[in-house]
Amino acid sequence: MNQDIVKLFDPLPPKSKLIIFGGGFSGQRIATLTRRLGVKVLCSRRNKESEGADFIFNTEKELPNEIFEGATHVLSCIPPLPNGQDPVLLKLKKQLLNSKNLKWVGYLSTTGVYGDTKGGWVNENTTPNPQQDRSKRRFSCEREWIETKLPIQILRLPGIYGPGRSAFESIFNGTTKMIDKPGQFFSRIHVDDIAGSVLFLINLYSQGKNPLVINVADNLPTNNLEVITYAAKIAKKPLPLTIPFEIAKKDMSPMALSFWQENRKVDNKLLCKKLGYSLIHPDFKSGIEDCFSKLTMDK
Ligand SMILES: NC(=O)c1ccc[n+]([C@@H]2O[C@H](COP(=O)([O-])OP(=O)(O)OC[C@H]3O[C@@H](n4cnc5c(N)ncnc54)[C@H](OP(=O)(O)O)[C@@H]3O)[C@@H](O)[C@H]2O)c1
Repeated sequence: MNQDIVKLFDPLPPKSKLIIFGGGFSGQRIATLTRRLGVKVLCSRRNKESEGADFIFNTEKELPNEIFEGATHVLSCIPPLPNGQDPVLLKLKKQLLNSKNLKWVGYLSTTGVYGDTKGGWVNENTTPNPQQDRSKRRFSCEREWIETKLPIQILRLPGIYGPGRSAFESIFNGTTKMIDKPGQFFSRIHVDDIAGSVLFLINLYSQGKNPLVINVADNLPTNNLEVITYAAKIAKKPLPLTIPFEIAKKDMSPMALSFWQENRKVDNKLLCKKLGYSLIHPDFKSGIEDCFSKLTMDK
């Protein structure tokens, strides 16, 4: 992580300890930024061989109380179980409620809870209307976290991208699909801005600025074609022909199809205007350029 990014954020109070449940793509990035600020961070994964596994958490085993000792902040990046239960609350609710030093608890949720708005904007006052089963499960987990009465904040995220998970992977391995669905928008967020928002919100929370639900999205919802075309131009790679959605959908998995069935733009004014978070990557162009620079650094 670029040292300039680290400098953008205020440190957490001394002796802070953050526990991250689910050190996957976002969890690892959040851990890296928080550690660079001098904070002790413990990250869970399901397998001890996985990168950055400080401890193992799955729904099969209990966790020793030592993990929670001195914990001041907790973040869950783990999606709901197929039966709709939240894995962390299922196994650890008691230990969380007994952790008397907790100042902030974050839950990474999704903007899928808003459902389809036919391209309309959604903000935190929009009544959730989850339509996909996975979004219904997610909304139910949000409520479960809120009902704990822990000092909770729900961060609703649209499509997450960043180095290693962007348009470039499919461009380079030749699997890009140029699907044209006029009027379709997707919102997105660069993983550095998830990490940045978490740090920013933790600090604001301690100052009493603590909205319960916050959308964490960039400024520019766009059609995916624009993003892929921009990435291919930077990488100087050819693209396949565009396929109309009505044809492409015949070969889509149910999961992929479900993403295209919803169309909404995610409003970030609460985070970026009212609370004052300054996006590191305000739109896909900045984010895609960052992903490309990391690709070229790896070569
Ligand atoms: N990807 C997106 O575009 C997107 C968009 C909106 C919201 N979200 C949500 O935002 C959160 C972070 O997203 P991400 O893409 O960074 O996630 P990710 O890379 O898939 O990481 C998810 C983490 O959760 C852990 N996990 C999953 N199921 C678990 C279980 N049953 N018990 C214990 N641990 C479990 C995984 O463990 P391992 O490390 O062992 O794999 C991983 O560390 C997730 O809840 C995701 O659903 C994602």
